[in-house]
Amino acid sequence: MTLRQLAESARSKAHAPYSNFHVGVALETVDGQTFVGANMENASYPEGWCAETTAIAHMQMAAPGARIKRVLVLGQGEGVLTPCGGCRQRLSEFSSADTLVECTNLKGDTRTFRMDELLPAAFDLDPSH
Ligand code: THU
Repeated sequence: MTLRQLAESARSKAHAPYSNFHVGVALETVDGQTFVGANMENASYPEGWCAETTAIAHMQMAAPGARIKRVLVLGQGEGVLTPCGGCRQRLSEFSSADTLVECTNLKGDTRTFRMDELLPAAFDLDPSH
């Protein structure tokens, strides 16, 4: 399955009854494994989380230490879905500057960014990096 197909399948499992905005994410690690995630909302609205966060947790739990080569995010808006600010930081933790982030929508529009374009000057505990 392609990352697009994996993200579509993940998106169908989103729990988003409050926003009705369903998001699916599929990522490929540097060593070729794939992981998926969907957004998980909550009746206490701030307790929900994004699809990227689910996918990252699946990856780290199944393959500790894995790094992300590319990630596809699928949303339902007119424009392509670009990850929220918090998810850019979370993705960055497991990415390199040249990790590709493919931002898509249901129409098939796609815009691809490098991680360092989406989150320039990312926070780093060791500023000498
Ligand atoms: N959402 C994501 O899953 N990923 C993003 O990058 C942006 C927003 C979710 C959170 C919430 O469940 C819904 O989309 C509407 O904001």
